[in-house]
Amino acid sequence: MYRTHSCGALNASDINKEVTLSGWVQKSRDKGFMIWIDLRDRYGLTQLIFDEERSAADLMERAKKLGREFVIQITGTVIERQSKNPNMKTGEIEVLVSKLTLLNESKTPPFTIEDTTDGGEDLRMKYRYLDIRRNPVKENLLFRHKVSMEVRKYLSDDGFVDVETPYLIKSTPEGARDFLVPSRMNQGQFYALPQSPQTFKQLLMIGGLDKYFQIVKCFRDEDLRADRQPEFTQIDCEMAFVEQEDILNTFEGLTRHLLKEIKGVDVAEFPRMQYDDAMKLYGNDKPDIRFGMQFGELNSVAQHKEFGVFNTAELVVGIAIPGGASYTRKEIDKLVDWVRRPQVGALGMVYVKCNEDGSYKSSVDKFYDQNDLEKWAEVTGAKPGDLICVLSGDINKVRAQLSALRMEMAERLGLRNPDEFAPLWVVDFPLLELDEETGHYHAMHHPFTSPKPGQLALLDSKPGEVKANAYDLVLNGNEIGGGSIRIHDKEIQAIMLKKLGFSDEEAKAQFGFLMDAFEYGAPPHGGIAFGLDRLVSILGGQETIRDFIAFPKNNSGRDVMIDSPATIDDEQLKELNIKLDIQE
Ligand code: AMO
Repeated sequence: MYRTHSCGALNASDINKEVTLSGWVQKSRDKGFMIWIDLRDRYGLTQLIFDEERSAADLMERAKKLGREFVIQITGTVIERQSKNPNMKTGEIEVLVSKLTLLNESKTPPFTIEDTTDGGEDLRMKYRYLDIRRNPVKENLLFRHKVSMEVRKYLSDDGFVDVETPYLIKSTPEGARDFLVPSRMNQGQFYALPQSPQTFKQLLMIGGLDKYFQIVKCFRDEDLRADRQPEFTQIDCEMAFVEQEDILNTFEGLTRHLLKEIKGVDVAEFPRMQYDDAMKLYGNDKPDIRFGMQFGELNSVAQHKEFGVFNTAELVVGIAIPGGASYTRKEIDKLVDWVRRPQVGALGMVYVKCNEDGSYKSSVDKFYDQNDLEKWAEVTGAKPGDLICVLSGDINKVRAQLSALRMEMAERLGLRNPDEFAPLWVVDFPLLELDEETGHYHAMHHPFTSPKPGQLALLDSKPGEVKANAYDLVLNGNEIGGGSIRIHDKEIQAIMLKKLGFSDEEAKAQFGFLMDAFEYGAPPHGGIAFGLDRLVSILGGQETIRDFIAFPKNNSGRDVMIDSPATIDDEQLKELNIKLDIQE
């Protein structure tokens, strides 16, 4: 038997017991006549002691040779510690070792296995298994386990059936590129890895399973960000005989349950916001509503004066930064530089200091008098002491720029409190989105999303205005889930695919199976998928999903530990009948 207890289990009630422990040497302190070793396993640390008076000489010698991360097994007696450590679960005791077995040696680890480590990101990724020994990473993985178990329990208790769907499939479009897998048995043909199990979960509804869920890997070949990985995990769900309201209620229930069980937080009914309002008030379809700083559109009060920049702009829009009137000229200049960085892309920024005495001082005093600026303050909700920041230009661009500024200022002002949770449903998304480069419309959510009742007629005349039965769940400014009520009628699906630029042949080749299934009694259905990695990281108070994934990819989509992706040998290429022609 390797152990009678874990390294986190022993306390004063175990004094005088003989115990056996196994684990890793965290650190060792050698005073010559006395050696202390911290022994670590998943459950904690236990202090071991060897001393000249009570331990055999050869045991002392062997203990001196133990290096960091050696794996050992010890047997000994639990004794009371001379200097107790109240911050440690096992801080009242230590184990006087009588028997030591070396289970495995270790090279000196490339970084310290401590809560704060000296290892850089790349090094820790290369030795991820060592990083996982560190508490912060281990705790994140345990936390993820807790969330996913809670999800399974809740959904299963609510009648959802966990069904696995295949990974080797045909393209399921979710707006990214597919990862492809060549088929040896069908030369020249490729499987696509699912961007989501979307079509399969719809087929399960046609199959009559009524309520489906799956915690499932999805694969998307897209640019990486802190909240994106090429392979990530969804809590994927679908229900039959439901309307949007049923889905929102069910998954608000799940989210509320998680907030309560995992974080001990009670949240009132989730507010709902129309997509158009989210864009207007926050410049963003996933607004962080933990703080204010709503947008105020200033066209009517700022245009038609002498200031040409505003007059030619599609949108003039501002926010009030609390307390910003006290910023020095230098600080404001820095803010202007910040919005002009290429990542944000504003051409410039107009500002108004709202002085405590009720007067205004702006960067455009030449064009606007106190009465004008007072109106700006009204529209942006600025109070004495605030700074109004105004951007102008093309509506989509300027909203994105001001939204970036709003988030940045909230971060700087400490308004993004990770212990506060502000969920929000964003509803009534547009069905289609114009791709400015190609001039074509594509599905904003995916091609299986149904338009709002009665809006189909607009599809030809005003495609950009058709609203969908589509919704996102936003938590603290992050999109943690999205879904829709689906089309379940073959004719409507055919119209949609045509509108999205698929010819009849292409539609049949790619989605014929689904269209065929719609001919055999497809029930009305809809669903949602949560990004589990995102959900877990936000519940964990962070926004980098990599920290909550056991073996994540780096920013170039590489796994630096196993060194993947990698070339394959000629033999394999031949078997697949693939010839490479890579231009250097
Ligand atoms: P959607 O594409 O909105 O919907 O994805 C659902 C949720 O998955 C998460 N997510 C990601 N997380 C990490 N890395 C990524 N690259 C990534 N991409 C998406 C987000 C997102 O809200 N089939 C539909 C769902 C449905 O209609 O039921 C779908 O996949 O949190």
